[in-house]
Amino acid sequence: MFEKLHILDETDNKLRIKSKDVVFPLSSEYKNLIKKIIQELTYSQIEEFEKKYNLRPGMGLAFPQLGIDKRIIVIVHEYEEGKFNNYVFINPVITSHSEELIAAECGEGCLSVNREVEGHVPRYARVTVEGFDEYGNKIKVRAREELSIAFQHEIDHLNGILFYDRINKNKPFYTEDEIRLI
Ligand code: NI
Repeated sequence: MFEKLHILDETDNKLRIKSKDVVFPLSSEYKNLIKKIIQELTYSQIEEFEKKYNLRPGMGLAFPQLGIDKRIIVIVHEYEEGKFNNYVFINPVITSHSEELIAAECGEGCLSVNREVEGHVPRYARVTVEGFDEYGNKIKVRAREELSIAFQHEIDHLNGILFYDRINKNKPFYTEDEIRLI
């Protein structure tokens, strides 16, 4: 039986606080929640289930979006048509990044922002993220392009930042000469 997550809307102040580090071992409650998030994000990217359960497509979610002020992010990345990689990062830190910046050409979306927000969000083209898996093992990933944007977007949630905070109010759109648009 599939039960939808209750995702907070941008008007909720809980999205604006800095979340706390997770202490291991991880509770079974959090482990279950992580499983549910993976399922919902995966379903949301498969047309059949997206329609069936009336989901908004999304590739990432952070615990604060469920009202839990803990540093856990989940990303479900469709790296090839119909093929998904799951990334669960606990206490994630960006340990290095490219100089090069990119932005999603169509802008970013967020499951907590139920409206269209126009504008380019500058992000690092490549990031190295370190953190822990659900069992407390150290993990590390090098992400580029769309996946790099996803990591930066989700880690921002842990610090109370929403994507549109990073859109330049005076100049919301960049040209290809200023930033690489993907
Ligand atoms: Ni978001």
